[in-house]
Formats: sequence, C-alpha cells, structure tokens
Amino acid sequence: MTLPIAVLISGSGTNLDAIIRAIEAKRLDARITVVISNNPDAYGLERAKAHCLPYQVIDHGDYASREAFDAVLAEAIRESGAKAVILAGFMRILSPSFISAFSGNVLNIHPAILPSFAGANAQRQQADFGVRLAGCTVHFVDEKMDNGPIVIQAVVPAYPDDNGDTLGQRILEYEHRIYPQAIQWLAQGRLKIQGRKVVVANAGKAKALPENGVLINPPLEEGF
Ligand code: GRF
Repeated sequence: MTLPIAVLISGSGTNLDAIIRAIEAKRLDARITVVISNNPDAYGLERAKAHCLPYQVIDHGDYASREAFDAVLAEAIRESGAKAVILAGFMRILSPSFISAFSGNVLNIHPAILPSFAGANAQRQQADFGVRLAGCTVHFVDEKMDNGPIVIQAVVPAYPDDNGDTLGQRILEYEHRIYPQAIQWLAQGRLKIQGRKVVVANAGKAKALPENGVLINPPLEEGF
C-alpha cells in the first residue's frame, strides 16, 4: 500500500530529491503529502515546487518554545495525512512528545556510521579525525539525537586528503541510495523494531558493491 509521508528539510534537499525521483520512477511506493521546512530559505523548497508538491514553511524562530513549534509541526503533518515522517537534513531536535506521537514512523539519515560521529558536521568531523572508513546511516528516531534503532548503513572509504566537502560528496551519493530503500522497506511493512535492533524482513546477506567495494548492509534491492 502506498505510504503517505511528510518530508522535513532545512537545507539543500538533495535527499528529498532522491526520494522524489524514486517515487516518480515507481521504485518507492510512497506519496509525499507535504514538504515542510523550518528554514524559509531552504533550497529544497524549490525542489518541492518544481515537482508540484505541497510545501509549508514553519519557521522555528516564530515560536517561543520547542514544544510550541513541534505542536504546530505535528498538526501540519497530521493534517496532510502523512503516516510517516522522513527527516531529510532537518536541523532541529524534536521533542519527546513529537516523537511519541509518530512513534516507530520517524526516520532520519545521518552522514556517518552511527554511533560514531553523531551531531552536526559529521562529514568534517570524520575527515578531520582521519578515519579510513566513513559512511551513512538511516535510523528510526527516538528522543536522543542520532540514536534510534538502525535500519541500514553504507560504508565508504576516506582518504588523508579528504576534507568535509570531498568526503561529504562521497557519502551523499550513498545517502541518496539507502534512504529511498529504507523508506520502501517501511512502506512494505518489512521493518520491525526489536529493542535497539531493526529486523528487515527477507533481507539479503551483505555484500560489497562489485563496482567499488562499498559495503551496504542490509544490501540494496533491485532498483536502488
Ligand atoms: C545530509 O548529509 C544528511 O545526512 C544530513 O544533512 C544533509 C542534508 O542534505 N542530515 P540534503 O539537504 O538532503 O541535501
């Protein structure tokens, strides 16, 4: 059954774009009911307009507290008819009451192999630390930042001459592949949260991509 989703953004919206393309190509069985940005200048809003998607700006600066902002956000999501909330570069921490309202149906993407390098500027943190393996994670959102049960991770190489931008670009390419896949699993009802773990029903065994050795687990299915 087609999953109605709300996509929350704060910036350029390339993950939003990857999700839109996967839907348009009928690889992802979802429908975007609304794109919401807390930042009026987010370029991702242009992407929503270009694809004739409903969008809203809910500027956190207009609200006195996190709870007040989150209540308006939750109402807009509910009104749109969305059943799942997809955080795609959304740079706000959500309150426990928001999370519990959509419990088990909020996904986030983070540009690192969690639990390493949580928080902002993870790409730069990884490059500066000199890691040799970097990557990205899609996880369910709980009340702690970058902490909830993990759905899928991709590992990419990092090099001594990388900076946050070069490494970020390499990571982003795989964000755009694992996020639509994770949402498709959610749409198919194949994700089961068991404590800290996520079981993906009928997932394959991890194997490195033949073209470049990038490791994704669980592996991407056809079309992703
Ligand atoms: C991505 O790297 C995402 O992992 C992080 O913020 C960035 C957003 O990029 N949370 P975009 O707005 O999807 O282009």
